[in-house]
Amino acid sequence: MMLEVKNISYEVENNGEGIVILNNISFSCKNCENIVITGENGSGKSTLLKILMGILTPTSGKILLDGKDITNFSIDERAKLGIAYSFQIPVTFKGISVERLLKLAGGENANYCDTLSKMGMCAKDYLFREVDKKLSGGEQKRIDLASVLLRNAKLNLFDEPEAGIDIWSFDRLVDIFSNKSANIIVSHQRKLIEKADKILLLKNGEISAFDKTEKVLPLLSEGKICKKLRRENG
Ligand SMILES: Nc1ncnc2c1ncn2[C@@H]1O[C@H](COP(=O)(O)OP(=O)(O)OP(=O)(O)O)[C@@H](O)[C@H]1O
Ligand SMILES: [Mg+2]
Repeated sequence: MMLEVKNISYEVENNGEGIVILNNISFSCKNCENIVITGENGSGKSTLLKILMGILTPTSGKILLDGKDITNFSIDERAKLGIAYSFQIPVTFKGISVERLLKLAGGENANYCDTLSKMGMCAKDYLFREVDKKLSGGEQKRIDLASVLLRNAKLNLFDEPEAGIDIWSFDRLVDIFSNKSANIIVSHQRKLIEKADKILLLKNGEISAFDKTEKVLPLLSEGKICKKLRRENG
């Protein structure tokens, strides 16, 4: 698996005014690599992830998967090629049981009880419940993560997997991202950021750093990057 993101920009029109949300984003992600995208609220993380999944279409730039140009591929086509996506706020499915959802994701013979239990959930308490809003936010998120993991995609895209999950449990869940897929994970969670192979730091829709975790981590805690950018912006 090789994902290449080349000069992606995303602009929207608001009251006749063009707003640049992402500007000239380029990076790549290879087999088994874990990349964490982090950055301030509104820096463009979710927008970038949605562009990778085909939920949004970039204004310019290209996305290649294993050398193939998938920029104009639909969500469905990308899913078939092996890309899975988990929303910042999970989607619910009224009338569908947890068991059905997990079977749809992983196939009839998938070991979904095991995956649920890795997510800290007792299968017998949840399999027959509906995947609806009666589940708590954290329960919805855990089930959503379980369904993405069960798909065994080549490339998983997670938008804030920690959202809604209590911090103590999430610390224990960090290991679920050491799977054999490549993972691109939008996150603000320190443990997860520290475990990544690379960090992509977004600032105002631009890449402010993209490098091995040990190189970017000190910049995050010292706030160096913010200061440098501020000077550059005058
Ligand atoms: N259609 C749109 N029209 C105007 N502004 C938009 C539109 N879509 C996104 N934005 C803006 O683009 C910026 C990036 O949004 P995005 O959701 O990607 O941020 P984020 O980095 O995921 O933030 P958070 O950490 O809060 O989830 C935000 O300022 C948002 O308000
Ligand atoms: Mg977001």
